Amino acid sequence: MIRFEGVERFYGDFQALAGVSFEIGKGEFVAVMGPSGCGKSTLLNIVGLLDRPTAGRYFVDGADASHLTDAKRTLLRRAKIGFVFQAFNLLPRLSALENVCLPMSYAGVAAHERRERAETLLARVGLKSKTRRTPLELSGGERQRVGIARALANEPGVILADEPTGNLDSRSSAEILDFFKELHAEGRTVILVTHDAGIGSMAGRTLRMKDGRLQQNP
Ligand SMILES: Nc1ncnc2c1ncn2[C@@H]1O[C@H](COP(=O)(O)OP(=O)(O)OP(=O)(O)O)[C@@H](O)[C@H]1O
Ligand SMILES: [Mg+2]
Repeated sequence: MIRFEGVERFYGDFQALAGVSFEIGKGEFVAVMGPSGCGKSTLLNIVGLLDRPTAGRYFVDGADASHLTDAKRTLLRRAKIGFVFQAFNLLPRLSALENVCLPMSYAGVAAHERRERAETLLARVGLKSKTRRTPLELSGGERQRVGIARALANEPGVILADEPTGNLDSRSSAEILDFFKELHAEGRTVILVTHDAGIGSMAGRTLRMKDGRLQQNP
C-alpha cells in the first residue's frame, strides 16, 4: 500500500534521507522512531504527499507518486491520507466545526453534508458540546481531538501523525492514543512518529531511523 524505493531528500547540500526503502501494508500500525533530526518528519511528509523525494520512488496503492504534479499530489492526498500534527495546525479564526469542514469543502462535499459529517466526527471524539468553540477556547487535548476529526473528514485509509502527543500531558496523550488504536482497529493504516518508547510498543512494527537511514530494513 505504501512503498519507498531508495528515497533520498536533500535540503540544499544537506541530505536528510539517504536511500530509504520500506513497505507498509494496508491496516498496519507502524511507529517511526529515532533521535531528533534523524529525518522522521521528512519521511512522514513524503509519505503524506506534503513533500516529494529528491531521488528515489514512492508508491501509494501501487501508483507511483514520486513524479506527480503538485495538483495531482494534492488530489491523491485528499483522497487517501489524513494528517495529524504535533502543533495541531488548526485555523485560529475558525470554529472546531469549520476546521473539520475545511478538507471536505476542498474535496467538493456539499455544505449540508460537510456539516453533518463534521458534527458526527466531533461527537465521536467527545466534542459534541464544543463544536462552536475556536481553537483558543479549547484545551490542548481538545485541539488535538479536533485535529483527529479533521484528519478523518474525507474518510482516508491512511492516518499519519507526527508526534501527535508531543504537546500534551500524559492524560490527554493517553486519550489521543486510544483514538489511534481505534482507527487501527477499524482497519485503517496508522503511521505515527514518536519519541515515546511506550507509544512505540503499541505499534505492530517500528521503523528505526538514524542519520537519514533506516536502521533495520523490515
Ligand atoms: N526545510 C528544511 N531546510 C533545511 N533543512 C531541513 C529542513 N527540514 C528539515 N531539515 C533538516 O533535516 C534533518 C531532518 O529533519 P526532520 O525534521 O525530518 O527531523 P526529525 O527526525 O523529525 O526531528 P525531530 O524529532 O526533532 O522532529 C534535520 O537535520 C533538519 O535540520
Ligand atoms: Mg520531526
